[in-house]
Amino acid sequence: MSRLFVKKPIGQLMAEANENEKGLKRSLSAANLVALGIGAIIGAGLFSLTGLAAANNAGPAVTLSFVIGAIGCAFAGLCYAEFASMIPIAGSAYTYSYATMGEFLAWIIGWDLVLEYALGAATVSISWSQYLVKFLHSMNIHLPAQFTCSPFETVTLTDGSVVNGFMNFPAVLIIVFLSLVLIRGTKESAFMNGLLVALKVAVVLVFIAVGWSHVNPANYDPYIPANTGAFGHFGISGVFRGAAVVFFAFIGFDAVSTAAQEAKNPKKDMPIGILGSLAVCTILYVLFAHVMTGLANYTEFKDSAAPVAIAIAKTPYHWLQQAIILAILAGYTSVILVMLMGQSRVFYSMSLDGLLPKVFSQVHAKYRTPYKSNLLFMLFVSLFAAFVPVRIVGEMVSIGTLFAFVLVCIGVIVMRKTNPEIPRAFKVPLVPVLPIIGIVICIALMASLPLDTWIRLAVWMGIGMLVYFTYSKNKSKLGNNL
Ligand code: ALA
Repeated sequence: MSRLFVKKPIGQLMAEANENEKGLKRSLSAANLVALGIGAIIGAGLFSLTGLAAANNAGPAVTLSFVIGAIGCAFAGLCYAEFASMIPIAGSAYTYSYATMGEFLAWIIGWDLVLEYALGAATVSISWSQYLVKFLHSMNIHLPAQFTCSPFETVTLTDGSVVNGFMNFPAVLIIVFLSLVLIRGTKESAFMNGLLVALKVAVVLVFIAVGWSHVNPANYDPYIPANTGAFGHFGISGVFRGAAVVFFAFIGFDAVSTAAQEAKNPKKDMPIGILGSLAVCTILYVLFAHVMTGLANYTEFKDSAAPVAIAIAKTPYHWLQQAIILAILAGYTSVILVMLMGQSRVFYSMSLDGLLPKVFSQVHAKYRTPYKSNLLFMLFVSLFAAFVPVRIVGEMVSIGTLFAFVLVCIGVIVMRKTNPEIPRAFKVPLVPVLPIIGIVICIALMASLPLDTWIRLAVWMGIGMLVYFTYSKNKSKLGNNL
């Protein structure tokens, strides 16, 4: 039993980090970290799911859904900040749990993070494909509809005929392209990332500024549409189900913690990076959602994956559509890149610990990147991008991430008891109260996701247990050293 709960000593973690990551330069300032966070956060959640959550769950009160989602993330964000300021090492939640809760739970969280990072990349690639189709349409270029969505979806053509999807080809294309970029080690420079972030934030600000004066107040009535009789379909339960849907829009702030070894002053700046990016995004999201549901009636966003186009069409600035869609397409790429990179980082650490085969930590002789891992995940993510509808992957990402947040909140409470002596540059106030509130909110958000999503989570974790008990437990370096 004790093998399952073997913990990685903090001293060993720090020593390994210095050994493995000698090449990483401490070059990121607090502002760079906030930019990194925003780069990973603003994406499909805002530009695509806002419309769907408004149309199916919350109506104009999707703004309240965003506030609830942000509160849930803020508690988890505080806990991430404490860990990142205490153990400023790459590997994020997986590394933290290996130090605090032992190998088995670390495995669970590492396996679970595949849902956040790998499937997160798949979800954003599907949304990318939908905006690309929209963009090409407006240029009179029409891709064959069956190659732009999964086999579980249908597309209505302009002549009214309905075709079945076969595979989402553009989504696969962007995953393959960005995986190859990662293999080449074309590391986004701070300049390039800054540019993409500036572009994304500019789109959001332009949308808010342009849309504000064309809002039709009638669209806010009723603000919380009456519940239809089914849980999650409008009414208060709809606002909560909407929060679980748009929660996806906040995912990524934890990715800041994977850059801990590249921060100039990690102890002080990691909390600023994590909480600062979360705060900026929350303000932008609420304003954006308010303008969007004010420009068009929430019912108009039904089934549309590109709601920004519908909203802009209500203003006299139609010409802005193309520019905004192009900027959205560019902005998505940084989210997909960070997700794919985060995924390979987590599996890299798990492989070095012996919990996964060496193939995940083999580094290319010339490019110095875990290229085999990148190639395997390119295949894995492409399968989801090609053949699974966006709702299903999106909800799996949300439930997987919420589960990781719950474990990180528990980790903070445990660590305060087991290692009170380790200096923490940032401390969550009122422990254990705040982490417990975080746990309750995250579980409430998980509870408002549909049953089929829970079943998929259980199946994925079941496969993970099988791998752990048949492979990882026997190969664990730490376990074998006991
Ligand atoms: N938060 C990221 C997005 O919305 C994952 O695309």
